[in-house]
Amino acid sequence: MTTTLPDAPGPRGDLLLGSVLDFKTNPLEFCRYMASAYGDVSRVRMGTVHWYLVTNPADIWDIMTTRAELFPKPAIAARLWKEFLGDGLLTSEGAEWRRQTTMMKPAMHRERLAVYGDVMAEYTDRMVDAWSPGEQRDVHADFTALTLRIVCKTLFDADVARDAPAVGEAMEVLQEVMVEHIHLPIPLPAWWPTQKNQRKVKALSTLKDIVGRLIRERRASGEDTGDLLSMLLASRDEAGSGMTDQEVFDQAMTLFFAGHETSANGLTWAWYLLARHPEVVARMRDELDTVVGDRAPSMADLRDLPYLDAVVHECLRVMSPVWLFMKEAAADTEIGGFRVPKGSPIAICPYITQRDARWWAEPEVFRPERFEKARRAEHVRGAWIPFSGGARVCFGKSFAMTELRLVLATMVQRLDPVIPEGHWPVKVSELSLHPRGGLPIEVRPRPDLRRPVRQAG
Ligand code: HEM
Repeated sequence: MTTTLPDAPGPRGDLLLGSVLDFKTNPLEFCRYMASAYGDVSRVRMGTVHWYLVTNPADIWDIMTTRAELFPKPAIAARLWKEFLGDGLLTSEGAEWRRQTTMMKPAMHRERLAVYGDVMAEYTDRMVDAWSPGEQRDVHADFTALTLRIVCKTLFDADVARDAPAVGEAMEVLQEVMVEHIHLPIPLPAWWPTQKNQRKVKALSTLKDIVGRLIRERRASGEDTGDLLSMLLASRDEAGSGMTDQEVFDQAMTLFFAGHETSANGLTWAWYLLARHPEVVARMRDELDTVVGDRAPSMADLRDLPYLDAVVHECLRVMSPVWLFMKEAAADTEIGGFRVPKGSPIAICPYITQRDARWWAEPEVFRPERFEKARRAEHVRGAWIPFSGGARVCFGKSFAMTELRLVLATMVQRLDPVIPEGHWPVKVSELSLHPRGGLPIEVRPRPDLRRPVRQAG
């Protein structure tokens, strides 16, 4: 039988204003409260719209795969992203999305990933080379710079080195503005004369100038430098047509945006978890020393490093960088026996489902062994969803999994993960989950160092 859900009052007990305020103050805590107080499907009124929160893996799987056509991305999110990212993979739907995915897929083929993998390990080495033993650093800032450098290099080859700081600064401004837009019910028009809005316009035009110039230069040279930009320029759809400069630009912006902050947050939380679990670091090192030894790890090593893979899976379970993603009901329907009207936004929250004791024994405990190959058959389908799933699964999943494993392997080979005694990072759940004020670490070379940490300079 299908029934209509009652409106759930927010934690303040107020049906409307309380819900909006609580959601704005701490969206993750708000969703956790909803799920614990009202169960697998709950709904809350925000202004004139009812939002649904779905936390049961069976319903999530159904939404992402079996009935995916009925649950596209919300129109409001697509409108917001489009302003910044144009018509790329993140914002398109239907036939246009299928055409784009077909053209883009070669960018994530194994041979391409192997090349990107070498960049990932080399850039991590360079980052660690520049650190001094004993120094205190904010590793979140370091990982953000690292993943941006990796994405710049793999997207545009070395040409962009001179522009990397400008690109980084512009991306930072855009992210800040995007978070504000999400919290603002009525987006400001581009001409609005506030300082923030003007910074946004400037940041967008900086990126457009740099990326536009790179596209023009590469088209003119006709050279294939093995990076993603070469691939985008060479790609053809089924009718044999290539991408226009605008299309290449939009995809490049999408990959830039989707592909660096999420990975940086994934790495930051992983380093934090490793600092709290020296026994896991010791097992990772045993495996790395046996398989890789003194040299830098590469993509080819990854298949022989199952424990490293299990660690990364467990990090993404415990601290999912994308803590929430959204769908929308394209028609009147039902979820888990409850009526859901057409146009309702539906929130799926990996952070909640991945920490639910019904699907994960002792969910708060960090235990990579649960992802060992022999134990994966025990997992409930739809209960591990850091990259979403189904056709709209993260396009960069293989890129990100390669990056997380190679960066962490390189760091663990050389350093002991150390954070100050008693430091508990405060989680901020904006576009993606990150620690407030970064993550302080102490640079401590591994005592039985296999690869020396060189001094900067
Ligand atoms: C740990 C790192 C990452 C995580 C946790 C992550 C997670 C996700 C999730 C949950 C989605 C679905 C979002 C939604 O439906 O609203 C998504 C989509 C996407 N991601 Fe990632 N991502 C990561 C890294 C990357 C990287 C490195 C790239 C590119 C190089 C990338 C490119 C994309 C794109 C293009 C989409 C849109 C796909 C589509 O709608 O067809 N992501 N990602």
